[in-house]
Amino acid sequence: SNGAYKYFLDGQWRESESGKTVSVTNPSTRQTCYQVQACTQGEVDKMFESAKVAQKAWAKTPLWKRAELLHKVAALMRQHAKPIADCLVKEVAKPAKDSLSEVVRSADLLDYCAEEGLRFLGEGQLLAADSFPGHARNKLCLASKVPLGVVLAIPPFNYPVNLAVSKLGPALMAGNAVLLKPPSQGAVAGLHMAHCFHAAGLPTGLLAVATGRGAEIGDYLTMHPGVNCISFTGGDTGISISRKAGMVPLQMELGGKDVAIVCADADLALAARAIVRGAFSYSGQRCTAVKLVLVEAAVAEALVGALAAGVAGLRVGLPEEDADITPVVSSSSADFIEGLVRDAQEKGATFVNGAFRREGNLLWPLLLDHVRPDMRLAWEEPFGPVLPVMRVASVAEAVAHCNASKYGLQGCVFTRDINAAIAISDAMETGTVQVNAPPARGPDHFPFQGFRDSGIGSQGIRNSLAMMVKTKSTVINLD
Ligand code: G3P
Repeated sequence: SNGAYKYFLDGQWRESESGKTVSVTNPSTRQTCYQVQACTQGEVDKMFESAKVAQKAWAKTPLWKRAELLHKVAALMRQHAKPIADCLVKEVAKPAKDSLSEVVRSADLLDYCAEEGLRFLGEGQLLAADSFPGHARNKLCLASKVPLGVVLAIPPFNYPVNLAVSKLGPALMAGNAVLLKPPSQGAVAGLHMAHCFHAAGLPTGLLAVATGRGAEIGDYLTMHPGVNCISFTGGDTGISISRKAGMVPLQMELGGKDVAIVCADADLALAARAIVRGAFSYSGQRCTAVKLVLVEAAVAEALVGALAAGVAGLRVGLPEEDADITPVVSSSSADFIEGLVRDAQEKGATFVNGAFRREGNLLWPLLLDHVRPDMRLAWEEPFGPVLPVMRVASVAEAVAHCNASKYGLQGCVFTRDINAAIAISDAMETGTVQVNAPPARGPDHFPFQGFRDSGIGSQGIRNSLAMMVKTKSTVINLD
Protein backbone atom coordinates (compact mmCIF):
# COMPACT_ATOMS: atom_id res chain seq x y z
CA SER A 1 0.00 0.00 0.00
CA ASN A 2 1.21 3.52 -0.76
CA GLY A 3 -0.63 4.86 2.31
CA ALA A 4 -2.78 7.19 0.26
CA TYR A 5 -6.57 7.49 0.52
CA LYS A 6 -8.20 5.14 -1.94
CA TYR A 7 -10.42 6.09 -4.84
CA PHE A 8 -13.95 4.68 -5.28
CA LEU A 9 -15.16 2.39 -8.05
CA ASP A 10 -17.78 -0.38 -8.15
CA GLY A 11 -18.56 -0.01 -4.46
CA GLN A 12 -14.93 -0.58 -3.50
CA TRP A 13 -12.09 1.56 -2.24
CA ARG A 14 -9.05 0.94 -4.43
CA GLU A 15 -5.45 1.85 -5.03
CA SER A 16 -4.65 3.18 -8.46
CA GLU A 17 -2.79 0.98 -10.89
CA SER A 18 -0.68 4.09 -11.62
CA GLY A 19 1.13 3.56 -8.31
CA LYS A 20 1.22 7.38 -8.15
CA THR A 21 -0.33 9.69 -5.62
CA VAL A 22 -1.21 13.36 -5.37
CA SER A 23 -0.29 15.29 -2.22
CA VAL A 24 -2.82 17.42 -0.42
CA THR A 25 -1.08 20.38 1.21
CA ASN A 26 -2.34 21.89 4.45
CA PRO A 27 -2.55 25.62 3.58
CA SER A 28 -1.68 26.62 7.17
CA THR A 29 1.47 24.54 7.59
CA ARG A 30 2.28 24.21 3.88
CA GLN A 31 3.11 20.56 4.65
CA THR A 32 1.55 17.52 3.05
CA CYS A 33 -1.43 16.45 5.16
CA TYR A 34 -2.85 13.66 2.98
CA GLN A 35 -2.13 11.70 -0.17
CA VAL A 36 -4.76 10.57 -2.67
CA GLN A 37 -4.59 8.23 -5.65
CA ALA A 38 -3.60 9.54 -9.07
CA CYS A 39 -6.22 7.68 -11.11
CA THR A 40 -5.43 6.61 -14.65
CA GLN A 41 -7.42 7.06 -17.84
CA GLY A 42 -8.10 3.32 -17.85
CA GLU A 43 -9.64 3.60 -14.39
CA VAL A 44 -11.77 6.48 -15.60
CA ASP A 45 -12.99 4.27 -18.48
CA LYS A 46 -14.03 1.60 -15.99
CA MET A 47 -15.93 4.18 -13.94
CA PHE A 48 -17.96 5.25 -16.96
CA GLU A 49 -18.68 1.64 -17.94
CA SER A 50 -19.94 0.73 -14.47
CA ALA A 51 -21.87 3.97 -14.11
CA LYS A 52 -23.66 3.36 -17.39
CA VAL A 53 -24.79 -0.11 -16.30
CA ALA A 54 -25.78 0.96 -12.78
CA GLN A 55 -27.70 3.96 -14.10
CA LYS A 56 -30.03 1.78 -16.18
CA ALA A 57 -31.24 -0.05 -13.08
CA TRP A 58 -31.33 3.12 -10.97
CA ALA A 59 -33.58 4.86 -13.51
CA LYS A 60 -36.12 2.09 -12.84
CA THR A 61 -35.85 2.42 -9.06
CA PRO A 62 -38.99 4.09 -7.69
CA LEU A 63 -38.62 7.74 -6.78
CA TRP A 64 -39.62 7.13 -3.17
CA LYS A 65 -36.78 4.62 -2.84
CA ARG A 66 -34.28 7.09 -4.27
CA ALA A 67 -35.60 9.68 -1.81
CA GLU A 68 -35.29 7.23 1.07
CA LEU A 69 -31.66 6.61 0.19
CA LEU A 70 -30.83 10.32 0.06
CA HIS A 71 -32.42 10.80 3.50
CA LYS A 72 -30.22 7.99 4.78
CA VAL A 73 -27.11 9.64 3.34
CA ALA A 74 -28.14 12.92 4.97
CA ALA A 75 -28.45 11.21 8.36
CA LEU A 76 -25.01 9.64 7.97
CA MET A 77 -23.49 12.97 7.00
CA ARG A 78 -24.91 14.57 10.14
CA GLN A 79 -23.62 11.69 12.22
CA HIS A 80 -20.11 12.02 10.73
CA ALA A 81 -20.11 15.79 10.35
CA LYS A 82 -17.19 16.34 12.72
CA PRO A 83 -14.59 14.06 11.06
CA ILE A 84 -15.59 15.35 7.60
CA ALA A 85 -15.32 18.94 8.84
CA ASP A 86 -11.90 18.18 10.34
CA CYS A 87 -10.68 17.28 6.84
CA LEU A 88 -11.92 20.63 5.53
CA VAL A 89 -10.03 22.43 8.30
CA LYS A 90 -6.81 20.67 7.29
CA GLU A 91 -7.19 20.59 3.51
CA VAL A 92 -8.67 23.99 2.72
CA ALA A 93 -8.08 25.90 6.00
CA LYS A 94 -11.76 26.64 6.41
CA PRO A 95 -12.57 27.88 9.95
CA ALA A 96 -13.78 25.00 12.15
CA LYS A 97 -17.32 26.34 12.63
CA ASP A 98 -17.80 27.04 8.92
CA SER A 99 -16.44 23.59 8.07
CA LEU A 100 -19.02 21.99 10.31
CA SER A 101 -21.85 24.10 8.95
CA GLU A 102 -20.81 23.20 5.40
CA VAL A 103 -21.41 19.52 6.18
CA VAL A 104 -24.70 20.10 8.02
CA ARG A 105 -25.91 22.39 5.22
CA SER A 106 -25.11 19.57 2.78
CA ALA A 107 -27.20 17.08 4.75
CA ASP A 108 -30.08 19.59 4.77
CA LEU A 109 -29.64 20.01 1.02
CA LEU A 110 -29.97 16.25 0.47
CA ASP A 111 -33.15 16.04 2.55
CA TYR A 112 -34.68 18.94 0.68
CA CYS A 113 -33.59 17.48 -2.63
CA ALA A 114 -35.30 14.17 -1.84
CA GLU A 115 -38.55 15.93 -0.97
CA GLU A 116 -38.47 18.33 -3.90
CA GLY A 117 -37.56 15.50 -6.24
CA LEU A 118 -40.56 13.42 -5.19
CA ARG A 119 -42.93 16.22 -6.17
CA PHE A 120 -41.11 17.74 -9.13
CA LEU A 121 -39.89 14.59 -10.88
CA GLY A 122 -43.14 12.77 -10.31
CA GLU A 123 -45.09 15.32 -12.32
CA GLY A 124 -45.22 15.39 -16.11
CA GLN A 125 -47.60 16.73 -18.73
CA LEU A 126 -50.61 15.41 -20.55
CA LEU A 127 -51.35 17.26 -23.79
CA ALA A 128 -54.21 16.72 -26.22
CA ALA A 129 -53.64 17.40 -29.92
CA ASP A 130 -56.82 19.36 -30.46
CA SER A 131 -55.39 22.60 -29.16
CA PHE A 132 -53.30 22.82 -32.35
CA PRO A 133 -55.02 23.84 -35.63
CA GLY A 134 -56.27 20.98 -37.74
CA HIS A 135 -55.99 18.34 -35.03
CA ALA A 136 -58.62 16.32 -33.24
CA ARG A 137 -58.57 14.86 -29.75
CA ASN A 138 -57.25 11.55 -31.01
CA LYS A 139 -53.63 12.10 -29.99
CA LEU A 140 -52.55 12.33 -26.37
CA CYS A 141 -49.00 13.19 -25.43
CA LEU A 142 -47.58 11.95 -22.13
CA ALA A 143 -44.43 13.90 -21.38
CA SER A 144 -42.27 12.80 -18.47
CA LYS A 145 -38.88 13.64 -16.99
CA VAL A 146 -36.21 11.01 -17.55
CA PRO A 147 -32.56 11.00 -16.45
CA LEU A 148 -29.70 12.16 -18.67
CA GLY A 149 -27.39 9.24 -17.88
CA VAL A 150 -23.98 9.81 -16.31
CA VAL A 151 -23.33 13.22 -14.74
CA LEU A 152 -19.75 14.39 -14.30
CA ALA A 153 -19.58 16.48 -11.12
CA ILE A 154 -16.58 18.75 -10.55
CA PRO A 155 -16.74 20.86 -7.38
CA PRO A 156 -14.09 23.42 -6.35
CA PHE A 157 -11.81 23.60 -3.31
CA ASN A 158 -13.87 26.20 -1.46
CA TYR A 159 -16.87 23.91 -0.85
CA PRO A 160 -15.57 20.39 -1.52
CA VAL A 161 -18.53 18.86 0.32
CA ASN A 162 -21.43 21.23 -0.25
CA LEU A 163 -20.75 21.90 -3.92
CA ALA A 164 -20.32 18.15 -4.47
CA VAL A 165 -23.61 17.36 -2.75
CA SER A 166 -25.43 20.17 -4.62
CA LYS A 167 -24.61 18.24 -7.81
CA LEU A 168 -24.88 14.66 -6.51
CA GLY A 169 -28.21 15.13 -4.76
CA PRO A 170 -30.20 16.37 -7.78
CA ALA A 171 -28.33 14.07 -10.18
CA LEU A 172 -29.02 10.90 -8.20
CA MET A 173 -32.57 11.86 -7.25
CA ALA A 174 -33.30 12.40 -10.94
CA GLY A 175 -32.09 8.88 -11.74
CA ASN A 176 -28.58 9.61 -13.01
CA ALA A 177 -25.25 8.01 -12.14
CA VAL A 178 -22.43 10.31 -11.03
CA LEU A 179 -18.71 10.42 -11.58
CA LEU A 180 -17.27 12.81 -9.01
CA LYS A 181 -13.88 14.46 -9.50
CA PRO A 182 -13.11 16.24 -6.23
CA PRO A 183 -10.63 19.12 -6.11
CA SER A 184 -7.19 17.99 -4.95
CA GLN A 185 -7.41 20.37 -1.96
CA GLY A 186 -10.59 18.96 -0.43
CA ALA A 187 -10.30 15.50 -1.99
CA VAL A 188 -10.22 13.68 1.34
CA ALA A 189 -13.31 15.49 2.62
CA GLY A 190 -14.90 14.53 -0.70
CA LEU A 191 -13.95 10.87 -0.24
CA HIS A 192 -15.43 10.83 3.27
CA MET A 193 -18.59 12.45 1.95
CA ALA A 194 -18.77 9.79 -0.78
CA HIS A 195 -18.41 7.12 1.87
CA CYS A 196 -21.72 8.29 3.38
CA PHE A 197 -23.40 7.44 0.05
CA HIS A 198 -21.69 4.05 0.03
CA ALA A 199 -22.59 3.30 3.64
CA ALA A 200 -26.21 4.28 3.02
CA GLY A 201 -26.40 1.48 0.46
CA LEU A 202 -26.09 3.24 -2.87
CA PRO A 203 -26.15 0.62 -5.66
CA THR A 204 -22.74 -0.57 -6.83
CA GLY A 205 -21.26 1.50 -9.64
CA LEU A 206 -23.77 4.34 -9.42
CA LEU A 207 -21.20 6.68 -7.88
CA ALA A 208 -17.50 6.69 -8.67
CA VAL A 209 -14.88 9.07 -7.29
CA ALA A 210 -11.78 9.80 -9.38
CA THR A 211 -8.93 11.60 -7.67
CA GLY A 212 -5.89 12.89 -9.49
CA ARG A 213 -4.45 15.96 -11.10
CA GLY A 214 -6.79 17.91 -13.33
CA ALA A 215 -3.87 18.35 -15.72
CA GLU A 216 -3.67 14.56 -16.16
CA ILE A 217 -7.28 13.38 -16.15
CA GLY A 218 -9.28 16.63 -16.43
CA ASP A 219 -9.64 16.74 -20.23
CA TYR A 220 -10.02 12.99 -20.38
CA LEU A 221 -12.99 13.19 -18.00
CA THR A 222 -14.71 16.16 -19.55
CA MET A 223 -14.27 14.98 -23.15
CA HIS A 224 -15.14 11.35 -22.42
CA PRO A 225 -17.84 9.85 -24.65
CA GLY A 226 -19.47 8.40 -21.52
CA VAL A 227 -20.38 11.86 -20.17
CA ASN A 228 -24.02 12.90 -20.50
CA CYS A 229 -23.89 16.12 -18.45
CA ILE A 230 -21.20 18.22 -16.80
CA SER A 231 -21.82 20.18 -13.63
CA PHE A 232 -18.76 22.26 -12.82
CA THR A 233 -18.03 24.93 -10.24
CA GLY A 234 -14.70 26.69 -10.28
CA GLY A 235 -12.63 29.20 -12.18
CA ASP A 236 -11.74 29.90 -15.80
CA THR A 237 -11.13 26.18 -16.41
CA GLY A 238 -14.91 26.06 -16.87
CA ILE A 239 -14.62 28.19 -20.00
CA SER A 240 -12.18 25.77 -21.62
CA ILE A 241 -14.33 22.81 -20.52
CA SER A 242 -17.32 24.47 -22.22
CA ARG A 243 -15.35 24.92 -25.42
CA LYS A 244 -14.19 21.31 -25.50
CA ALA A 245 -17.29 19.56 -24.18
CA GLY A 246 -19.41 17.62 -26.62
CA MET A 247 -23.14 17.90 -27.11
CA VAL A 248 -24.03 17.55 -23.45
CA PRO A 249 -25.92 19.89 -21.12
CA LEU A 250 -23.57 22.07 -19.08
CA GLN A 251 -24.08 23.60 -15.68
CA MET A 252 -21.24 26.01 -15.01
CA GLU A 253 -20.63 28.32 -12.10
CA LEU A 254 -17.39 30.20 -12.57
CA GLY A 255 -15.97 33.37 -11.09
CA GLY A 256 -17.60 36.50 -9.82
CA LYS A 257 -16.67 40.12 -9.23
CA ASP A 258 -19.61 40.80 -6.98
CA VAL A 259 -20.11 44.49 -6.38
CA ALA A 260 -21.75 46.22 -3.44
CA ILE A 261 -23.40 49.44 -4.56
CA VAL A 262 -23.88 51.80 -1.63
CA CYS A 263 -26.32 54.64 -2.28
CA ALA A 264 -26.16 57.95 -0.47
CA ASP A 265 -29.38 57.17 1.47
CA ALA A 266 -28.19 53.77 2.73
CA ASP A 267 -28.11 52.68 6.36
CA LEU A 268 -24.32 52.87 6.47
CA ALA A 269 -23.86 50.86 9.67
CA LEU A 270 -25.91 48.01 8.22
CA ALA A 271 -24.10 48.27 4.86
CA ALA A 272 -20.67 48.20 6.49
CA ARG A 273 -21.50 45.16 8.63
CA ALA A 274 -22.90 43.30 5.64
CA ILE A 275 -20.00 44.21 3.37
CA VAL A 276 -17.32 43.19 5.88
CA ARG A 277 -19.06 39.85 6.41
CA GLY A 278 -19.59 39.43 2.66
CA ALA A 279 -16.03 40.30 1.74
CA PHE A 280 -14.08 38.48 4.43
CA SER A 281 -15.91 35.29 5.38
CA TYR A 282 -13.72 32.33 4.47
CA SER A 283 -11.08 34.97 3.77
CA GLY A 284 -12.85 36.08 0.60
CA GLN A 285 -12.53 32.68 -1.08
CA ARG A 286 -16.12 32.57 -2.29
CA CYS A 287 -17.49 33.25 -5.77
CA THR A 288 -20.14 35.29 -3.98
CA ALA A 289 -17.76 37.34 -1.83
CA VAL A 290 -18.11 41.12 -2.10
CA LYS A 291 -15.17 41.96 -4.36
CA LEU A 292 -15.70 45.65 -5.01
CA VAL A 293 -17.53 48.41 -3.18
CA LEU A 294 -18.96 51.17 -5.39
CA VAL A 295 -20.00 53.99 -3.09
CA GLU A 296 -21.57 57.35 -3.85
CA ALA A 297 -18.97 60.01 -3.10
CA ALA A 298 -21.21 61.88 -0.61
CA VAL A 299 -21.12 59.00 1.88
CA ALA A 300 -17.76 57.46 0.94
CA GLU A 301 -15.84 58.91 3.86
CA ALA A 302 -18.39 57.70 6.42
CA LEU A 303 -18.69 54.24 4.83
CA VAL A 304 -14.93 53.71 4.64
CA GLY A 305 -14.67 54.66 8.33
CA ALA A 306 -17.30 52.08 9.26
CA LEU A 307 -15.68 49.42 7.04
CA ALA A 308 -12.29 50.11 8.63
CA ALA A 309 -13.77 49.58 12.10
CA GLY A 310 -15.26 46.29 10.93
CA VAL A 311 -12.01 45.09 9.40
CA ALA A 312 -10.12 45.98 12.58
CA GLY A 313 -12.37 43.54 14.45
CA LEU A 314 -11.44 40.53 12.29
CA ARG A 315 -9.32 37.90 14.01
CA VAL A 316 -6.39 36.61 11.94
CA GLY A 317 -5.11 33.11 12.67
CA LEU A 318 -5.65 29.43 12.18
CA PRO A 319 -8.79 27.59 11.07
CA GLU A 320 -8.52 25.28 14.10
CA GLU A 321 -8.90 28.37 16.31
CA ASP A 322 -11.88 29.46 14.25
CA ALA A 323 -10.17 32.69 13.26
CA ASP A 324 -12.04 34.94 10.80
CA ILE A 325 -9.11 35.24 8.44
CA THR A 326 -7.21 32.01 7.79
CA PRO A 327 -4.45 31.10 5.31
CA VAL A 328 -5.55 31.15 1.67
CA VAL A 329 -5.60 27.83 -0.13
CA SER A 330 -2.15 27.87 -1.76
CA SER A 331 0.99 29.91 -2.09
CA SER A 332 0.22 30.53 -5.76
CA SER A 333 -3.12 31.98 -4.72
CA ALA A 334 -1.38 34.18 -2.12
CA ASP A 335 1.12 35.31 -4.81
CA PHE A 336 -1.72 36.21 -7.17
CA ILE A 337 -3.51 38.25 -4.49
CA GLU A 338 -0.25 39.97 -3.59
CA GLY A 339 0.22 40.87 -7.28
CA LEU A 340 -3.20 42.55 -7.41
CA VAL A 341 -2.48 44.51 -4.24
CA ARG A 342 0.97 45.66 -5.45
CA ASP A 343 -0.58 46.83 -8.72
CA ALA A 344 -3.16 48.92 -6.82
CA GLN A 345 -0.42 50.26 -4.56
CA GLU A 346 1.74 51.40 -7.51
CA LYS A 347 -1.26 53.10 -9.11
CA GLY A 348 -2.10 55.06 -5.96
CA ALA A 349 -4.76 53.19 -3.95
CA THR A 350 -4.94 54.11 -0.26
CA PHE A 351 -4.29 51.41 2.36
CA VAL A 352 -6.88 52.25 4.99
CA ASN A 353 -5.98 49.74 7.71
CA GLY A 354 -2.24 49.36 7.35
CA ALA A 355 0.22 47.95 4.82
CA PHE A 356 0.17 44.60 3.07
CA ARG A 357 1.20 41.82 5.45
CA ARG A 358 1.78 38.16 4.62
CA GLU A 359 3.19 35.17 6.49
CA GLY A 360 3.23 32.07 4.30
CA ASN A 361 -0.29 31.74 2.96
CA LEU A 362 -1.77 33.91 5.69
CA LEU A 363 -2.72 37.38 4.45
CA TRP A 364 -3.92 40.10 6.80
CA PRO A 365 -7.23 41.64 5.72
CA LEU A 366 -6.86 44.73 3.56
CA LEU A 367 -9.20 47.62 2.89
CA LEU A 368 -8.15 49.67 -0.13
CA ASP A 369 -9.77 53.02 -0.85
CA HIS A 370 -9.57 55.22 -3.99
CA VAL A 371 -9.35 52.21 -6.27
CA ARG A 372 -9.74 53.34 -9.89
CA PRO A 373 -10.73 51.58 -13.12
CA ASP A 374 -7.11 51.43 -14.33
CA MET A 375 -6.24 49.08 -11.45
CA ARG A 376 -6.52 45.32 -11.82
CA LEU A 377 -8.44 45.19 -8.52
CA ALA A 378 -11.31 47.08 -10.19
CA TRP A 379 -11.91 44.09 -12.50
CA GLU A 380 -10.15 40.94 -11.30
CA GLU A 381 -11.22 38.50 -8.63
CA PRO A 382 -8.64 38.25 -5.81
CA PHE A 383 -10.27 35.29 -4.02
CA GLY A 384 -8.61 36.51 -0.85
CA PRO A 385 -9.09 38.91 2.07
CA VAL A 386 -8.89 42.14 0.08
CA LEU A 387 -11.70 44.68 -0.19
CA PRO A 388 -11.31 47.45 -2.78
CA VAL A 389 -13.46 50.59 -2.58
CA MET A 390 -14.16 52.73 -5.64
CA ARG A 391 -15.83 56.10 -5.14
CA VAL A 392 -18.38 56.93 -7.82
CA ALA A 393 -20.15 60.16 -8.75
CA SER A 394 -23.51 58.46 -9.26
CA VAL A 395 -25.39 55.19 -9.01
CA ALA A 396 -25.49 55.15 -12.82
CA GLU A 397 -21.68 55.11 -12.89
CA ALA A 398 -21.69 52.20 -10.41
CA VAL A 399 -24.15 50.21 -12.51
CA ALA A 400 -22.13 50.91 -15.67
CA HIS A 401 -18.97 49.59 -13.99
CA CYS A 402 -20.80 46.48 -12.81
CA ASN A 403 -22.13 45.79 -16.30
CA ALA A 404 -18.76 46.33 -17.95
CA SER A 405 -17.31 43.41 -15.97
CA LYS A 406 -16.84 40.09 -17.73
CA TYR A 407 -18.43 38.53 -14.66
CA GLY A 408 -22.09 38.67 -13.69
CA LEU A 409 -22.67 36.34 -10.76
CA GLN A 410 -24.17 38.31 -7.90
CA GLY A 411 -24.16 41.83 -6.55
CA CYS A 412 -25.85 43.83 -3.85
CA VAL A 413 -27.32 47.25 -3.34
CA PHE A 414 -27.74 49.21 -0.13
CA THR A 415 -30.48 51.83 -0.04
CA ARG A 416 -33.52 52.70 2.08
CA ASP A 417 -35.61 53.26 -1.07
CA ILE A 418 -37.21 50.03 -2.28
CA ASN A 419 -38.16 51.62 -5.61
CA ALA A 420 -34.54 52.58 -6.23
CA ALA A 421 -33.41 49.10 -5.15
CA ILE A 422 -35.63 47.38 -7.70
CA ALA A 423 -34.61 49.80 -10.46
CA ILE A 424 -30.92 49.24 -9.70
CA SER A 425 -31.39 45.47 -9.55
CA ASP A 426 -33.14 45.57 -12.93
CA ALA A 427 -30.27 47.58 -14.38
CA MET A 428 -27.52 45.30 -13.00
CA GLU A 429 -26.71 42.50 -15.44
CA THR A 430 -25.93 39.89 -12.79
CA GLY A 431 -27.58 36.58 -11.95
CA THR A 432 -28.75 37.72 -8.50
CA VAL A 433 -28.93 41.07 -6.75
CA GLN A 434 -29.33 41.17 -2.99
CA VAL A 435 -31.02 44.17 -1.46
CA ASN A 436 -29.50 45.32 1.84
CA ALA A 437 -27.52 42.10 2.37
CA PRO A 438 -24.30 40.64 0.99
CA PRO A 439 -24.31 38.22 -1.96
CA ALA A 440 -24.83 34.56 -1.06
CA ARG A 441 -25.84 31.38 -2.81
CA GLY A 442 -27.95 30.09 0.04
CA PRO A 443 -30.54 29.15 1.08
CA ASP A 444 -29.73 26.31 -1.27
CA HIS A 445 -33.17 26.06 -2.87
CA PHE A 446 -32.91 29.60 -4.28
CA PRO A 447 -32.00 29.86 -7.98
CA PHE A 448 -28.28 30.52 -8.40
CA GLN A 449 -26.84 31.59 -11.74
CA GLY A 450 -24.13 33.65 -13.31
CA PHE A 451 -24.37 35.79 -16.43
CA ARG A 452 -21.59 36.22 -19.04
CA ASP A 453 -18.33 34.50 -17.95
CA SER A 454 -19.82 33.66 -14.55
CA GLY A 455 -21.71 30.66 -15.80
CA ILE A 456 -24.20 28.66 -17.80
CA GLY A 457 -27.57 27.54 -16.48
CA SER A 458 -29.14 27.99 -13.09
CA GLN A 459 -28.62 26.00 -9.92
CA GLY A 460 -30.60 25.77 -6.71
CA ILE A 461 -32.28 22.48 -5.90
CA ARG A 462 -35.31 22.76 -8.20
CA ASN A 463 -33.31 24.18 -11.10
CA SER A 464 -30.62 21.51 -10.78
CA LEU A 465 -33.24 18.76 -10.76
CA ALA A 466 -34.75 20.30 -13.90
CA MET A 467 -31.37 20.53 -15.55
CA MET A 468 -30.48 16.91 -14.89
CA VAL A 469 -33.45 15.40 -16.69
CA LYS A 470 -34.65 15.42 -20.27
CA THR A 471 -38.21 15.31 -21.53
CA LYS A 472 -39.51 12.04 -22.92
CA SER A 473 -42.85 11.86 -24.71
CA THR A 474 -45.10 8.95 -25.47
CA VAL A 475 -47.90 9.84 -27.87
CA ILE A 476 -51.03 7.73 -27.72
CA ASN A 477 -52.86 7.64 -31.05
CA LEU A 478 -56.50 6.75 -30.66
CA ASP A 479 -58.95 5.54 -33.28
O1 G3P B 1 -17.88 30.11 -4.26
C1 G3P B 1 -18.90 29.23 -4.41
C2 G3P B 1 -20.28 29.85 -4.32
O2 G3P B 1 -21.21 28.89 -4.66
C3 G3P B 1 -20.55 30.57 -3.03
O3 G3P B 1 -21.45 30.00 -2.16
O4 G3P B 1 -22.71 29.79 -0.06
O5 G3P B 1 -20.59 31.08 -0.08
O6 G3P B 1 -22.57 32.00 -1.19
P1 G3P B 1 -21.86 30.77 -0.79
